[in-house]
Amino acid sequence: MAFAGRNSHHGNRDFWSFRSSMTARLSSSRLRPLPQPQCLQILASHRIKPKTLFENVPHQMLFSSVPLQLAPDIWLLAGFAAGYDLLESIHAVAGSAGFRHCVVPGGKRMSVAMTNCGQLGWVSSSSGYAYLPYDPLTQLAWPAMPAIFKKLAIEAAKTVGWPNFKPDSCLINRYEAGAGMGLHQDRDERDLSAPIVSVSVNASAKFMIGGLRRDEPVKSIELHDSDVMVWGGRSRLIFHGVRPLPKNQSALRYNLTFRQAG
Ligand code: SIN
Ligand code: FE2
Repeated sequence: MAFAGRNSHHGNRDFWSFRSSMTARLSSSRLRPLPQPQCLQILASHRIKPKTLFENVPHQMLFSSVPLQLAPDIWLLAGFAAGYDLLESIHAVAGSAGFRHCVVPGGKRMSVAMTNCGQLGWVSSSSGYAYLPYDPLTQLAWPAMPAIFKKLAIEAAKTVGWPNFKPDSCLINRYEAGAGMGLHQDRDERDLSAPIVSVSVNASAKFMIGGLRRDEPVKSIELHDSDVMVWGGRSRLIFHGVRPLPKNQSALRYNLTFRQAG
């Protein structure tokens, strides 16, 4: 699965420049994923340039949800969650465990509103971050992880080489106009050999991908409804974040982050 890995800088640069022209079409696709990352293998082996992309790649490959490796062990599955009614389940979870704006250790209120489902929920307060088996607002167990959430997360991880992913935690983020998330690492999980599966729902947003150190350069990639990112392995501890949504935007963005936390 390392066709666009550490040594193919040329291929990665091509990817970043053609991604923006492809995304609208990819995300409006309702085709199911192909089983293997055939499309990018072909692109990489033929060194196809953005401007000739549409002439050289068979339509069926270009418009399917094909896994793209953005960097070592960071995968984008564009449109992979199409066909799952995620909003309905998000609303159901939020009906039992409502969205709230947590405070971070420095005392600042997060612009993103959050809730959780599954056995463990990620929470932040002025005293730190934690995974808790209950909602601190109600002292009740978090709502169960909806079956379609679990299926989607397991399928996505399996598709890009993690067949044993067992998510026990799903953090649901809700972004309103102006809300974003600063660069951070996900490092509160017990077993860092399990990947992160991150699903974008509804409005689009610019996702930032940095390196393993905070001061490394950051790239942005526009994520659309139903796009799934999976990262782990060599990139499990990458810095990442979300650029603030435009101030005048009315559509909400949601993100589901599946983790094996306990
Ligand atoms: C996160 O890293 O917790 C959120 C990612 C996202 O909203 O896409
Ligand atoms: Fe994160």
